[in-house]
Amino acid sequence: MLNVFPVGKQPAPDAVRRGEIYFHDATRCFQHWHSCATCHLDGGRVDGLPWDFLRDGIDNGKDVISLVNLLHTPPYNRLATRPDARFCIESGVVVSHQVTPDAAEVDDLLAYVESLTAEVNPNLPRFAEAARRGKALFGGKADCARCHPGPYFTDKRTHHVGVTSPNEPNARYDTPSLVEAYRTAPYFHDGRAATVRDALTQHDTEDLHGNLNQLTPLEIDDLIAYVLSL
Ligand code: HEC
Ligand code: HEC
Repeated sequence: MLNVFPVGKQPAPDAVRRGEIYFHDATRCFQHWHSCATCHLDGGRVDGLPWDFLRDGIDNGKDVISLVNLLHTPPYNRLATRPDARFCIESGVVVSHQVTPDAAEVDDLLAYVESLTAEVNPNLPRFAEAARRGKALFGGKADCARCHPGPYFTDKRTHHVGVTSPNEPNARYDTPSLVEAYRTAPYFHDGRAATVRDALTQHDTEDLHGNLNQLTPLEIDDLIAYVLSL
């Protein structure tokens, strides 16, 4: 026998939901090329690819940045070109979608991005002990917390940390947040380091990126565990 079960009325979408829909909708983009989620996938995270937007020159692609904690981590973009989150999102639509959003759409996108919350590394129980030891190094001997202070693990400034690109001579990049570093590979402004270990050991930064050369191999392991726990 057939029955009808009323499941209630679909509530009208709020700002977060409207923003989520816009964020995932490629029809909002010129010629339906892509949505925000094409590059910021998994709920505003990263696709792991460098994209060469032309606002900062050509042949200098930038690794996608996670949008978690966006409002707490100004300035924006690897070169710190945008001081304000709302303006960054608005100009992001113009640059990536080649259309001009109206103010309500920008508000909705902002509400959606603001609703994203960090998730703990599900593998953390496997290396919690090492992460605890790494935490002491991070704030002490390794001198990481100077530029990556909690709770967002960025000092919101740009620095030259020895990671250079030929066509960006001053080599100053925004200190990235390390929140959810376990799921934002690859690393550095152009994504040259495939893993956190690569970022901390495979690039000669001339001692400009913390006291990594003063750490023993075991201490490096503990420091990596801590970074992967954030
Ligand atoms: C083609 C890939 C791509 C698309 C599509 C895209 N982004 Fe991005 N996004 C990037 C890259 C790459 C960066 C880093 C740019 C830089 O550092 O100059 C970025 C940076 C950002 C930032 C700055 C984050 C920070 O903490 O500095 C925001 C905000 C942002 N995007 C929002 C959006 C929104 C909203 C949309 C949809 C309208 C969107 N993006 C579409 C690739 C993309
Ligand atoms: C002088 C400031 C400064 C110090 C000290 C510093 N960092 Fe950084 N860190 C930065 C900047 C700036 C970048 C971005 C470089 C780039 O994009 O090329 C960065 C990038 C990183 C990245 C890559 C993150 C990503 O998403 O691309 C990791 C991981 C990292 N730092 C961990 C550490 C650790 C661990 C220490 C301590 C050994 C440390 N940092 C010390 C400023 C600093």
